Formats: sequence, C-alpha cells, structure tokens
Amino acid sequence: MASEGALMRGKVCMITGASSGIGKETAKALARMGATVVMVGKSSERGEGAKREILTQFPNASLELMAVDFSTLEAVRGLASDFTSRHQELHVLMNNAGTIPAKREVSTDGFEMQFAVNHLAPFLLTNLLLDVIKLSAPARIVNTSSGIHNRGKIDFDNLQAERGYSLFGAYGRSKLANVLFTYELAQRLKGTGVTANCFTPGMTKTDLGRHIRGPSGFFFRHMGKSQEEGARTAVYLASSPEVEGVTGKYFSNCREVQSSNSSHDEGLAKRLWEVSERLTGLS
Ligand SMILES: NC(=O)c1ccc[n+]([C@@H]2O[C@H](COP(=O)([O-])OP(=O)(O)OC[C@H]3O[C@@H](n4cnc5c(N)ncnc54)[C@H](OP(=O)(O)O)[C@@H]3O)[C@@H](O)[C@H]2O)c1
Repeated sequence: MASEGALMRGKVCMITGASSGIGKETAKALARMGATVVMVGKSSERGEGAKREILTQFPNASLELMAVDFSTLEAVRGLASDFTSRHQELHVLMNNAGTIPAKREVSTDGFEMQFAVNHLAPFLLTNLLLDVIKLSAPARIVNTSSGIHNRGKIDFDNLQAERGYSLFGAYGRSKLANVLFTYELAQRLKGTGVTANCFTPGMTKTDLGRHIRGPSGFFFRHMGKSQEEGARTAVYLASSPEVEGVTGKYFSNCREVQSSNSSHDEGLAKRLWEVSERLTGLS
C-alpha cells in the first residue's frame, strides 16, 4: 500500500463547504496526501483564509479555490461548467456545504433555503459532474449528512416548508434528503466504478450555528469533536483503500452504521429524485 503521504497523488477532488469546518479539514488532509483539491466556499474571503491556512501548514499543497453561492442554481451550473472547462478528471466529489439560517429563508429560485443549499445544490452539482466523474472511475462521491436525518420527514405537499416551519425540522429534512439521494445515486451508478456513500460527522465544533442565537448556536461552536476529528470519516470515505468499491452506505466514525428507516424507503428516494430533477431543471 502507498504511504499516506502519496495515497491521493494524481487524484482531483472537489470539496464543497471547504472554506470552513469539516470541509476545510478534509481539504487539508486530502491535499496532504497529494491530491489536487478544488475548494468550494460561499465567501471568497473565507475561502482565501482557508487556503492560506492549509498552504502555511503544507506549502506544496495543490489547491484551487472557487467561490460559489449555492442559494442560486445558476451559480451551481456555473461551478460545474467552470470546473469542466479546467479539468478532465474528478476522482472525489465531496458534497459537504451546509447551512442553517436563523429563520425561514427563501433562495433566489424560490426554494426553502436549507432544502436549496443542503439538497438541491448538491443534487444538481453531482448530476452535472457525473460524466467527468464516470470518466475518472474508480471515483467516489461522498455526501455529508447528519444523525439528525433520523428526525427528518419529506412531505411532498409542503416541500418548501411554507406551513409549520421549524429550523431543525427543515435541517433534518435536508439531511434525510442527503441520505436518500446517496442511496438512489448508488443504485443508478452500479457498474460504473463510481461509488456514493454518506456519513455523519457527529457533533463537531464549527461555524454551522453562526446564524443561530442562543443555546443551539453556542452548542455548534463549543460542543463536540474538534474539526479534525469531525472530518475523519470524510477523509476515510474519500481516500481509504478499505472502502474501495463500497457503495450506498451510511457511515459514522469510519464504520458503516444503520441510517433511519425512512432513509431506506426506495419509493421515497425515487420520488425525491424525480421531484429534484424537475425543480433543478434537469428534466
Ligand atoms: N458541525 C456539526 O456538528 C455537524 C454535524 C452533522 C453534520 N454536519 C454537516 O457538516 C457539513 C459542514 O458543516 P460544518 O459543520 O463544517 O459548518 P461550517 O463550518 O459552517 O461550514 C459550512 C460550509 O458550507 C459553506 N456554505 C454555507 N452556505 C453556503 C452557500 N449558500 N453556498 C455555498 N457554500 C455554503 C460555507 O461557506 P462560507 O464559509 O464561505 O460561508 C462553509 O464552507 C454540513 O453539511 C453540515 O450539515 C455538521
């Protein structure tokens, strides 16, 4: 086996949400292993800061930065086309960007913000990049979900949460969508050499609660694992030979674990896929 320092040499990885938290630590680890890492963040300033931090620690890291706001699907399309105009290969796509706004917000395209940024944006990005990912096989898609997906419910009659909105209800729903998307994607990718898995990082001290006042915001900043620990399962799924060929699974602490019952509802996953295709203009 190659030493960890060379494990990802020659691999191109795109990580969304790489300007901060779990995504930044994953970018750092994969760059340290020799990968070319395309770091995607919302703010170019935070992205530049993250890139500088990694280069300070690993001056030979091969990093590219792209600042894209996932609250507009047009921007997601722009990211995919910028990427494919510059790169012919993508070996790892990590869909990790996530947000929890302080109150119900609506994206430029008119979707509830968490559904838009946490689910529709990665759904569209992945589909737009699938050709280049398949050409790069063996390749991996890694989606950052959360244990809170257990509490998520998908109600197709209230998909934009216009009625009965709750912050963590909408968050849980978007994280359930991440798991359903992963399982359906893995089915669709069978035989292509591309795997799709998802994971929960577990409670990790990050900026995820930056918009939330009170105890919940405090918890995100101060409780749980270090960011490096939070990123461990992401790094494992993106790089470890142990999970070569493993697909359609949910992980925690670098181990496959059971996701919720509703995440295994194949009818729900198919319907969500079709609705997401329609909402993102893919069909
Ligand atoms: N922290 C936890 O306890 C925990 C637990 C379970 C799951 N997760 C999941 O882990 C993932 C990473 O979150 P984190 O905890 O590392 O939080 P974080 O430090 O706040 O990082 C979130 C990342 O997402 C990006 N982002 C947010 N809104 C965006 C938008 N509209 N367009 C594009 N990018 C956007 C941010 O970019 P900017 O910095 O440029 O704004 C940042 O890079 C999320 O999917 C989250 O749901 C976290």
